[in-house]
Amino acid sequence: MVPAAGRGERLGPGAPKALRELGGVPLLVHAVRALARSRAVGLVVVAAPPDGVAEVVGLLDSHGLDGKDVRVVAGGATRQESVRLGLAAIPADVPVVLVHDAARPLVPVEVVDAVAAAVKGGAGAVVPAVPLADTVKRVEPQPGGRPEPVLETPDRSSLRAVQTPQGFRRELLAEVHERALAEPELTVTDDAGMVEHFGGTVVVVPGHEEAFKVTRPLDLVLAEAVLARRRASDGF
Ligand code: CTP
Ligand code: MG
Repeated sequence: MVPAAGRGERLGPGAPKALRELGGVPLLVHAVRALARSRAVGLVVVAAPPDGVAEVVGLLDSHGLDGKDVRVVAGGATRQESVRLGLAAIPADVPVVLVHDAARPLVPVEVVDAVAAAVKGGAGAVVPAVPLADTVKRVEPQPGGRPEPVLETPDRSSLRAVQTPQGFRRELLAEVHERALAEPELTVTDDAGMVEHFGGTVVVVPGHEEAFKVTRPLDLVLAEAVLARRRASDGF
């Protein structure tokens, strides 16, 4: 399923992020195609901006999607809520669910396949991730741009930057979303984080640098460059 109901505040003013264009095609369409390209994917459920369901249905109808079944539901006020609403639209007999951000339009199919294969191979929760390029420091945040004291520098060799799609045994994902409803103060930023919070095991498989998330304007510049390179090299 593809959570696509965010506003895209950090990308700046304009349409909801999932509807912003990359190479003349909405980010959401890229993301859905990237998932649908995997033989492991049979159905794609999109959680659209609540006021944009009809528009998203139209967009997906007008772009070819490899004959895969696509359904659109209204998303929610938070990413967590959007995933929960999307999950509810997936038929009960589907045993494996991948959750993929509309904001990661260029994820290579190898990553989608690797995540799906790890879940089918027995893992309950799987995330793709890449090593960090930057050294990371934990700080004591200060108001007003004042210098922030450093508390520690975690060993970078054991840190990973996590991407999507994240893959789950369906019952596990449904269970943690259900349990999270009773904990409104829970602030995890991904679905695997919810599994960890409730004591479940999450494993990491290799991600890919092109699975980066479009968050800020510069990310869109990079995404355009990656897409142009693909189109030049293989008519993608
Ligand atoms: N998302 C969603 N429903 C929400 C919020 C986010 O489905 N209420 C989705 C976004 O559409 C995106 C993914 O979750 O595909 C990752 O979120 P993020 O990159 O934070 O996107 P936005 O929330 O749209 O951006 P921002 O935080 O800058 O507003
Ligand atoms: Mg957000």
